[in-house]
Formats: sequence, structure tokens, C-alpha cells
Amino acid sequence: MIMRSDRLAHVHSDIRGPLYQEALRMESEGINVLKLNTGNPGRFGFKLPNSVRQALALHIDEAVPYCDVRGMEAARNVICTYHIGRGLLGIMPNDVFICNGVSEAASMLMNVLVGTGDEILLPSPCYSLWSNNTYLCSGKAVFYRCDPANEWNPDVDDIKSKVTDRTKAILVINPNNPTGAVYSKNILLEIADIARKNHLVLLSDEIYDRLIMDGLRHESMGALAPDVPCITFNGLSKSHIVCGFRCGWMVFSGPKGELDDIKDGVMQLASMRLCGNALTQLVIPAALVDSASTQEMLVPGGRLFEQRKATLEALDRIDGVSYVKNKAAFYLFPGLDKSKFDFQDARDFAMKFLHEQHILVIPGGGFDWHEDIRFRIVMLPEPESLTKAMGDMAYFLKQHRV
Ligand SMILES: Cc1ncc(COP(=O)(O)O)c(C=O)c1O
Repeated sequence: MIMRSDRLAHVHSDIRGPLYQEALRMESEGINVLKLNTGNPGRFGFKLPNSVRQALALHIDEAVPYCDVRGMEAARNVICTYHIGRGLLGIMPNDVFICNGVSEAASMLMNVLVGTGDEILLPSPCYSLWSNNTYLCSGKAVFYRCDPANEWNPDVDDIKSKVTDRTKAILVINPNNPTGAVYSKNILLEIADIARKNHLVLLSDEIYDRLIMDGLRHESMGALAPDVPCITFNGLSKSHIVCGFRCGWMVFSGPKGELDDIKDGVMQLASMRLCGNALTQLVIPAALVDSASTQEMLVPGGRLFEQRKATLEALDRIDGVSYVKNKAAFYLFPGLDKSKFDFQDARDFAMKFLHEQHILVIPGGGFDWHEDIRFRIVMLPEPESLTKAMGDMAYFLKQHRV
């Protein structure tokens, strides 16, 4: 047998991993599984906004040739304006690279930035795109703790204690997946200060920045640290229900010249694949001025608001489950009081829940969280469906009480 490269040794994508495979096997036997594993709104009846549909129809011929390696000029102009509006200073359209999703942007950037043995500070819990790319680049993933007792904000002292002379970058995922947290401005300023003092690059994954609830404000990391090299990641997958389009980008900001070599490296990699998918880029100008279609999901009566409400109300009725209410996106990362149940660990809980109630959730380990029994719920089904699923969880937990 021909063996895969050892660079894949630590790569794990549990969101589509063994539990998911088991769910597929069950479905092949005719069992109906409620799959709460991926943040994929289009799978749950969320509709493409009209603004996006029209832009695609109107401009389709423009996407016929390969486009600019960095991305279509009209789209990069609008992205640049968007991020200037979010407070990124001094950026130009050439600081923007449009990619096939934040996923491709992250892969490109990490391949350019991370050398063998370079340490990248990543949050725990972490969306595994970032840890996996660190492993693939032969870097070292160093996890800093986010604290459920402090609304899942990063523990700044933990970050400080983990900086070494091999540390190259700090990643912040804000708003966060899997916790749904929106970080406080003070914490972000403190993280920026750590980067400033240790000559580190800030990586800021802000793909959920338009999905903020409860009238809260999201602070863009690069805006808080104009004197620190920062790369901000964003995209339309969730805010405009186009996960399948693969539409994301990265923006370089900070002191002039500091990131030029990294940008040149990204240009080399971007050139290798000629250009990003041009069809998806056609919709960026229309989408970024259409905040209304996103906003209506987030207020009372809107799907994301009501789905969160239904989930939390049902969880409140279960003894032994705790959670921090998400402030953004559609993720919740609840914990179980281990002393009350007979589960060995989070994976044991998730596998039994799948087998006994036919509901798939991803255990904490899938997000590099091993401290206690936690799992991520994706609150994308309609409210009634989530109420029922949480009711099933209540029944299931009753059976496993010690
Ligand atoms: C935090 C975070 N970053 C990046 C991505 C990937 O987004 P894209 O669809 O743009 O590749 C996701 C997808 O769930 C995510 O949750």
C-alpha cells in the first residue's frame, strides 16, 4: 500500500470525521439522523438573498475568463471599503486576496507564514481549519485557553505564558466558532499588545462579524492594532448563505512593508492556481452592501434569533447542562456535569447520543478542547425542530444519570 505523507499525522476534521461517518452509515440503513455537525445554513432551508441571485445573473459573462490572481478589481474595491469601514487603516485593494473561501485563504497564508517548528498560538476551543493547517505546514500548534467563566474570552495570561522565541503568530477567531463568543475590546487590546511586544503577526478570523446579536458591537482586531501586522479573514459563506460558492478573502494591514514578503509569497501561491472562482466574486459588491438580509435573521422573529431562543429555553430545563449564551453566529458549546452522568468523555456522550437519539453533535475534542465534557450544537434547524432535539437530549440524559 502507498502511504500518505507524515504531515497528515495530526490532521483531524471531526466535524466530518468518525461520528459523521457513523451517521452516514446509519442513514444508509434507513435511519433518519438530525445532523447538527456543520454550519451550513443552505442545508436547513435558509435561502439565497435576492441581492446575490440578481448579481450573479446580471454579471455572469464577466466570469468567463480567468480573473486577476488577487481577485476581481470591483470585488476587491468593495472589500477594501468594507474593511476601512470596520476601522482598518491605510489598506488598498492590492492588500486584499480573494480566495475559494476562508478555508483556501487560511491554507495559502499558513503555507507562506509557517515554517518547520514555528509556533502558532491558537485558541482552545479552536475551529480545526487553523490547527490542521498548522500541522500540515510542520508548525507547532500551541493552544491558549478561552475561559467559559469569562464568557469564553481568551485567557490573556495563558497567551503570555506560551509565547516563546519560536512563536510567529497569534490567531483570534472572533466571533468564535464553536463558542459563539464575541470578545471584549479590552481583551483584544491586550492580545494586540502581546503581539506588539513580541513582534508577532495577528491573524484574525472574522467570518462571523456580520452575525452579531443583541445590539452588540464587534471590534475588528486590525482596527485596534494599526501598528501591528495583521491579516484579517472574512467571507460570505454564512452571512449571505453561500457556503457552496466558496467565497472568502484575506486583508493585510499594519505598518507599511512589514508583511510585504508574506504578501509576495501569497501571490506566488495564488498564481499557482491562476485565480479564485470568478463566479462567486461577481456577487461580492452586491452582498457587502446588502446588510438587510443578514440583519433580519438576527432580530426577534428572525431565524437565528428564534432558533437560539428555542434551544436555550429547552436546555434551561435540563439539570446538569450548562452553557454560555452565544452572542453571534449559530453555535453553542454547552458542558455536562460529569459527576451526574455515566459518560466516559465527550466522545462517548456524542456517540451514544447519535446511536440512541439519532442526533449528531460534535464533541469538544473536535475543537481541541479536552478540559471537560462539552459538545457543539449547530442551531440551524427551525425552532420547533431544535426544541424537539433538546427534548430528546433531556430524555437521553435522564437515561444516563448516575
Ligand atoms: C471560524 C471559521 N472560519 C472559517 C470557516 C470557513 O469558511 P469558508 O466557507 O469561507 O471556507 C468557517 C466555517 O465554518 C469557520 O467557522
